Amino acid sequence: MAGRALARDAHTRVTQYIRLETQYSVMSRIDSDDEGTGSAPEYEHVDVSVLVIGAGAAGARTAIELAERGVDDVLVLGKRSHGDAHTTWARGGINGALGTRDPEDDWTIHAADTLNEGHFLNDPAKVEAVTRQMPERLRELDDWGMAYSRTDDGDIDQRYFGAQSFRRTAFAGDHTGESMLQALVERAQTLEVPYRENVMITKLLSDGTRVHGAVGFDTDAGEFVVFNAGTVVLAAGGYAAIYDRHTSRDDENNGDGPALAFDAGAALMDMEFVQFHPTGMAVDESDPEWAPWSGRLVTEAVRGEGGRLFNADSERFMERYSPDQMELDARDVVARAIAKEVAEGRGTDRGGVYLDISHRDRAFIEERLPRMYERFMDLGVDMATDSVEVAPTAHYGMGGVAVDDHGETSVEGLFAIGETMAGVHGANRLGGNSLAETVAFGVIAGERIADRVTGPGSIPDSVRDDVVLPHLDELAAMADHDGSHDVREVFEALQSLMWRHAGILRDEDTLEAGLEELARLRTRAADMTAGPMTSESYELAVDVGFMLTSAEAVLRGALERTESRGAHHRTDHPTTDADWQRNIHFEKVDIGAMTASTHPVGTPSPTVQQALDDDHELDYHQLE
Ligand code: FUM
Repeated sequence: MAGRALARDAHTRVTQYIRLETQYSVMSRIDSDDEGTGSAPEYEHVDVSVLVIGAGAAGARTAIELAERGVDDVLVLGKRSHGDAHTTWARGGINGALGTRDPEDDWTIHAADTLNEGHFLNDPAKVEAVTRQMPERLRELDDWGMAYSRTDDGDIDQRYFGAQSFRRTAFAGDHTGESMLQALVERAQTLEVPYRENVMITKLLSDGTRVHGAVGFDTDAGEFVVFNAGTVVLAAGGYAAIYDRHTSRDDENNGDGPALAFDAGAALMDMEFVQFHPTGMAVDESDPEWAPWSGRLVTEAVRGEGGRLFNADSERFMERYSPDQMELDARDVVARAIAKEVAEGRGTDRGGVYLDISHRDRAFIEERLPRMYERFMDLGVDMATDSVEVAPTAHYGMGGVAVDDHGETSVEGLFAIGETMAGVHGANRLGGNSLAETVAFGVIAGERIADRVTGPGSIPDSVRDDVVLPHLDELAAMADHDGSHDVREVFEALQSLMWRHAGILRDEDTLEAGLEELARLRTRAADMTAGPMTSESYELAVDVGFMLTSAEAVLRGALERTESRGAHHRTDHPTTDADWQRNIHFEKVDIGAMTASTHPVGTPSPTVQQALDDDHELDYHQLE
């Protein structure tokens, strides 16, 4: 299992937002116990109209939209230091129908591809809202200095990506997320967007119907902070890192966003749909040099640029699974094919298959896939002459928080965007649509908030007494608790549980056993030694709480959905059932308890329906 300190790419930091403490109102430290008992923890109090939780692409784009619309009483919170967000790990590209290489592409075909590969569980209105605006969003990023790879004519280049009818994935080598965040952060700096780093949010302030802010702690100073905010935007990532083998860093994508929203009274949706990226690094776990890289992303761009998959018998096995789309079929199809090859004994000793792009020139690989080339070269593997070993790895949660067309949850004033929200990707996400969603919904939510923002408001006394103060007590008690269980052990046991019980293939027995094991883990989690608030283990202990909520929703959703669709594959219900074209929602009914309901999916607009009827499909052989 990869530890926190490891595997930060050499290129994961971008420039900083400016830190303008004077732009948000920091009151002096107060003693929360104004009754005079002296027992309540102290906290810092911050008033701000719009609190953006998460400093990746979605959070940054929302803040930019707000600033451009004249809303400057905004604060963007980052869990880590300036410019270091998960967006920097996004590699292969961002989709938008620019038509650089394939002029016949347009946004309706982009929408049709997204719905097709989402197995029609996506919300068509959200899909259309994203795909329609993406050409403009891509050009805007260009204006803001994003270092796109370009054609000989200087246009934004576009490459093939899985299950897309045309080349529509714009990219910056294989460091697209990093280049994109760099451009967004520079734009935010120009607009003087206020930012605060190293703050971990632990609870949203809600009375069940309206949000009033959030509580968290400064991970550097080890001090509590209470944010009084009229609007809160959760742009806090997804939940793929609740799995043992995953592409995120250990301390991100732990389900913070969904769990915070659920706790505040919002519904979770589609949580059972977890994307297993076909090509995570398959390594010798006993080799200290390689072990940290286990499960890390080998970008789809390797296949988009012509990379081929072979099993241990040197057979190009995708010919058997998908003769037309081959290695560039949808991620769920390729991931299941690899899992089957390995399960049936045709995998490598490390439980993977081979990915080979050595038929391309070294100069081409260095130019189009520079980070992959460097990373493997550092590990002693030359991609220009050798194949690399890969196996599926948890990469993305298609589910998340249920939101309306503007990104607002059922809790007034609480928005969820980017990977934290659900609805755009349905049962399976197209590679390159994740970055697209971040900027598209950043604009959509920003517009809506700017129209309505009225100021910070104030935290009602009932919320202060019933939510803020008890929660601060809980956080303080966690730091003091001398428990029987080690935090990392519980953290890793949970990730292992999810991999074993809610992995690529599921069935009723495995899922039910997973829920029972989760209940036992909950008991262990209540008795952990978290350590001081500035320690890594304290942060992980908070993460464990988020992970338990997200894991339960995944297991329950997967059990509820008695069919197979996209990334959710039930071996006891192997076919798709038309009656299940419904989203599963989970809501909180009591402390910790979840109740499920199902909701029908909308219908596409006539123009997108026409694109669906036209039945576009990638012919992989153009790449050969
Ligand atoms: O493989 C990749 O580069 C991943 C891209 C994505 O998930 O959008």
